[in-house]
Amino acid sequence: MQVIVVDDYEALSALAAGLVAGFLWARPDATLALPTGATPEGFYRALVATGVSFARVRTFNLDEYRGLSREHPGSFYHYMKTRLFDHVDLPPEHRFVLDGTAADPDAECRRYEEAIRQAGGIDLAILGLGLNGHIGFNEPGTPWDSRTRLVTLTESTRRANARFFGGPDRVPREALTMGIGTILEARRILVLVSGAGKAAIVRRFLEGPATPEVPATALRNHPHVTVILDRAAAGHLTGHGTVVSGHKK
Ligand code: GLP
Repeated sequence: MQVIVVDDYEALSALAAGLVAGFLWARPDATLALPTGATPEGFYRALVATGVSFARVRTFNLDEYRGLSREHPGSFYHYMKTRLFDHVDLPPEHRFVLDGTAADPDAECRRYEEAIRQAGGIDLAILGLGLNGHIGFNEPGTPWDSRTRLVTLTESTRRANARFFGGPDRVPREALTMGIGTILEARRILVLVSGAGKAAIVRRFLEGPATPEVPATALRNHPHVTVILDRAAAGHLTGHGTVVSGHKK
């Protein structure tokens, strides 16, 4: 696992965008798995600004809330449309987001796994990190061989995402998410984590015991993982990290 610590959120966003744009210049037909949340907003802005083409790219979002339509402003589809899809030449038929309104969520999850398989698997998965160590919406306790499925969100996750809904009671209780097993099959993985609020979970992710109680620790079994942290998120680490920009304060 390669861990890179940069000065701040802006540097994290720029580095991540540069890495992903470089990847797409080398592999213009790549298949990506994409995150949502506050962390990747700067990354998407910087990625759009690179002007890299998405004409042959396929994207699979990690997760979606159960019961929200694509038009709902809290849906991850809406997030992707406003942050990325509306700004790049990614063909509509190459944009895969789980359908939160599917009458049969299990069938929807099987369909998603099949679509990933037909795309040749995921070349690069870009992930954020939940406050409780979740990746996608795989909450603590999720088995590492889990596949795409319907899940129940924890109270802490619903509280953390309340800002997107105007209150925790409005956050959906369920979601569809790629499984940890599905994510681990990606050929490369890039994890973005920003802010002092994540410093404690970053330490557990990188330096604590590998356990399903911290879902992100499953990534330690993967051969090609890069983690980009800003200095605040790296604040509790004792041993890891390579400073690639700025100076130690
Ligand atoms: C969300 C998403 C995750 C994301 C995480 C952190 O709920 N399901 O994919 O990585 O929580 O989000 P944020 O960047 O807003 O802290």
